[in-house]
Amino acid sequence: MKLCVSGTPGAGKTTIACHLATRFGVPHIDVSSMASEKGWIIEDDEERETSVIDIEAAQDHINGMAEGIVDAHYAELFEGSPLLVIRCPPMLLHQRLLARGYSMEKIRENIMAEMVDACLIAAMEEKGRESTFEVENIELESAKRRAENVASDPAPGESVACQTTVHYLTEENLSFYQTL
Ligand SMILES: Nc1ncnc2c1ncn2[C@@H]1O[C@H](COP(=O)(O)OP(=O)(O)OP(=O)(O)O)[C@@H](O)[C@H]1O
Ligand SMILES: [Mg+2]
Repeated sequence: MKLCVSGTPGAGKTTIACHLATRFGVPHIDVSSMASEKGWIIEDDEERETSVIDIEAAQDHINGMAEGIVDAHYAELFEGSPLLVIRCPPMLLHQRLLARGYSMEKIRENIMAEMVDACLIAAMEEKGRESTFEVENIELESAKRRAENVASDPAPGESVACQTTVHYLTEENLSFYQTL
């Protein structure tokens, strides 16, 4: 099994990817922790509190693997495999990022990215709509079940080409964003 799991920081990529890796007995490839181990960090973007990684080096390593669940913010890793975008409602994402001690600037940036479907759009551009799937991660057990179903049978009928499950760019979410 080869699958990419992407999404806004805090949406639940690692939680779901770990579960899938255990469930299906394949390696969990957490690209951000692997990046420091393997020396893929090109620079630390201090202003945005993030690291820039050498995508090509990561891609070479990952594409050399026979199977695995790639857990990364980037959609282009693991060529040819389906991609699962983990989605999280903005108000819930706010709670998860606050609990992690993120700065308000970073929380705002990530909430806006989630509202405008930034990771979903990147995934669709990279993989195509029929190979891109969404899992809304509100209640963990049902998110895990949906992720398992997609991972075991990534059928186009379940993809974003046929189903759009989330709409976060709403008046309610925008008003919430403005209070932050
Ligand atoms: N369905 C859920 N209900 C409650 N808490 C959750 C749920 N899913 C994930 N979490 C919690 O939210 C936090 C963020 O999850 P996780 O680390 O999986 O996100 P991530 O997308 O991998 O983030 P990053 O991009 O920073 O690596 C963790 O503390 C995790 O335990
Ligand atoms: Mg993670």
